[in-house]
Amino acid sequence: MTGQIPLIGEKFPEMEVVTTRGKLKLPDHFSGKWFVLFSHPADFTPVCTSEFVAFSKRYEDFKKLNTELIGLSVDSTWSHIKWAEWIKEKFGVEVPFPIIADPRGHVADKLGLLHASSATHTVRAVFIVDPKGVIRAILYYPAELGRNMDEILRMVKGLQVSDKYGVALPANWPNNELIGERAIIPPASTVEEAASRLKEYECFDWWFCHKEIPHEDAEAARKFLERVSKPSK
Ligand code: BEZ
Repeated sequence: MTGQIPLIGEKFPEMEVVTTRGKLKLPDHFSGKWFVLFSHPADFTPVCTSEFVAFSKRYEDFKKLNTELIGLSVDSTWSHIKWAEWIKEKFGVEVPFPIIADPRGHVADKLGLLHASSATHTVRAVFIVDPKGVIRAILYYPAELGRNMDEILRMVKGLQVSDKYGVALPANWPNNELIGERAIIPPASTVEEAASRLKEYECFDWWFCHKEIPHEDAEAARKFLERVSKPSK
């Protein structure tokens, strides 16, 4: 790996990438939209195939959140195209988003995706990037476990709600064990603020106060989550 890998809160590194839909400039190509860049170890492998089917089937859900998808591996464009054709023929699922071809590993290197456990293949990673091109979340998964689409959708929705209302969101939101679909007020930074929190909000203590957010925002996230128990055919 050469140089510093990008971190949460930093701008997504500017680069031109070769994809199954032509050359694209990142992050500018997605300016004004959220995007999820996800890397996979290799085309024509079973877990990755299951993930491509899953991401493709949830593409419309991502679009409803003003979010685009883009895949990445060290395979070539022709390999990606042939694999996508095979997925369509075998499972009737069209891959509707571009896939970056990175046979020399330049993009993978810039993004820190060549880990020790699989140095010649991209690790299974997810970057969630906001409309200003800022990296808001990075996830890494092992080769032997496929990603959960509902969690990635929950993260995009959660980050959007967090930005909209200036709040944080608890574990398992919108079905949290302590405060349900309510949101957490950011920490107080002065003694005065700490005291006023207790008068203004419902609190377990001044450092753990919470408030209601519009039900429809929580409901949208809940609907995505409910699909876990009812996967689309
Ligand atoms: C898979 O997608 O099935 C896979 C890819 C790399 C290593 C192990 C499994």
